[in-house]
Amino acid sequence: MSLESTQPSEMLITTLVICINKRFRIDQRSCAMGGSPELVKMIESGVKARRINIKIETTVCFGHCSKGPVMRMIPGGKFYHEVCKDDIAGIVDELEELCGTKPDQDEMQFAPGS
Ligand code: FES
Repeated sequence: MSLESTQPSEMLITTLVICINKRFRIDQRSCAMGGSPELVKMIESGVKARRINIKIETTVCFGHCSKGPVMRMIPGGKFYHEVCKDDIAGIVDELEELCGTKPDQDEMQFAPGS
């Protein structure tokens, strides 16, 4: 995996966008060809299990096809290039560190002042 960052440190990350584009020519690399649909499932599962406060969305091309699978934090966040299954645990850790976790329902029910 490689990273390309354009994110000012004070921006609040709300979403991880993952390219699932499949190009029709076999000689043209695409994120789907690199397994991005499975990576989406893995990340969604990790985010859900850890209650990470981030949305996961898919898109159909960032224009970085030769570096796929590609993901990007938004707004204005860094790109992850050439992501593979072995990278997912580290990405989920980073998402939790940047975005925090959602309170669980029991905590919300018994919170003072609620
Ligand atoms: S196919 Fe994913 S960036 Fe173009």
